[in-house]
Amino acid sequence: MDTKKPILISGIQPSGQLHLGNYLGALKNFVELQNSGKYRCYFFVADLHSLTEDYEPKEKPKQVLDLALSYLAAGIDPKKSTIFVQSAIPAHAELTWILNIITPLGELRRMTQFKEKSKTGAESANVGLFDYPVLMAADILLYGAKYVPVGEDQLQHLELTRTLARKFNAKFPARAGGGKTFVEPQSLLTKVPRLMSLDDPTKKMSKSRPAGCLFLDDSPAAIREKLARATTDSGKEVRYAPDTKPGISNLLKIHEALSSEALQLTVARYKNKGYAEFKRDLAETVIKALAPFQAKKKTLKAPAFACLPAEALAQAGLRTGRQNSKLKAILAAGNKKANAVAEKKLAEVKERVGLF
Ligand code: AMP
Ligand code: TRP
Repeated sequence: MDTKKPILISGIQPSGQLHLGNYLGALKNFVELQNSGKYRCYFFVADLHSLTEDYEPKEKPKQVLDLALSYLAAGIDPKKSTIFVQSAIPAHAELTWILNIITPLGELRRMTQFKEKSKTGAESANVGLFDYPVLMAADILLYGAKYVPVGEDQLQHLELTRTLARKFNAKFPARAGGGKTFVEPQSLLTKVPRLMSLDDPTKKMSKSRPAGCLFLDDSPAAIREKLARATTDSGKEVRYAPDTKPGISNLLKIHEALSSEALQLTVARYKNKGYAEFKRDLAETVIKALAPFQAKKKTLKAPAFACLPAEALAQAGLRTGRQNSKLKAILAAGNKKANAVAEKKLAEVKERVGLF
């Protein structure tokens, strides 16, 4: 790897199926950024973050592997990028603790995601959910990442990461001649930083509202049905006007992101046609765009899961007995590389804060 190239990192939580928002806001961009050849890329499975929400322990290993498979199926290439699992790198949790010491309670209380996820009551929310942004800061700062591709909902967390980096650098300066410990990261957004829900275009597409999600693993029939049912606005003109026509505007953004056609051209093409025809055509565009991902995932899937216990395989409807643990090997190699980088940075941090 060219050590002069800036470092880029991002992660996704393994907590259920990926939806089109994850794809257009993050994953598709991961692949494009990787293939630009301009960065040293790290992509990881944020399994520690995913423990902050209710989950079934038996499902977690499957979810972790499924997300790693989705990375590969989307085009993340272990020869070009380091792919790893967050919980395999102890430094993430250790640095979180050290960053906790410089994180004001008030900053975390302001976080929109925490406020939303703890709606049933901040007092009964788990501390992990509260501390989630600090773990995210540790994920990024350990690798010296300059760039972080994410969706818009993560910008506030990234801003906190920058604040913590600055604060740490000021509070624990290096000895003469040493550089700054942490790099302040910048976000990289796509043209669709906030895809809206199909059933309610005033809310973002989110795993917590499955009814409004188009999942990357959805069958063509499901995609057609979901788009036919997608909430549109009054009137029947296909036009881009996010404030007055949020439903159709959201669908136009999907079309633009997945086709090579500029939005205004699409609008012109559907000038005298209704919503239904546009939605039907959009379904075919989505199906076509997701087909390579789905096909690749299918071919990777059966052998990749062979490393799971027989019971888990049976539950997932997969055959046992296959010895191919290629995915496991890819993750083991990625974990090793990531661990070396993270350990080095953690040692530097410990020295700066006065730990042995
Ligand atoms: P998560 O599933 O919460 O781990 O999110 C993974 C990535 O997808 C993050 O970079 C999010 O910001 C991004 N993301 C999630 N939902 C959306 C959405 N509706 N539109 C755009 N990006 C999204
Ligand atoms: N919090 C992110 C999300 O929910 C996932 C994540 C965890 C992440 N650590 C990260 C993203 C570090 C970018 C960098 O989408």
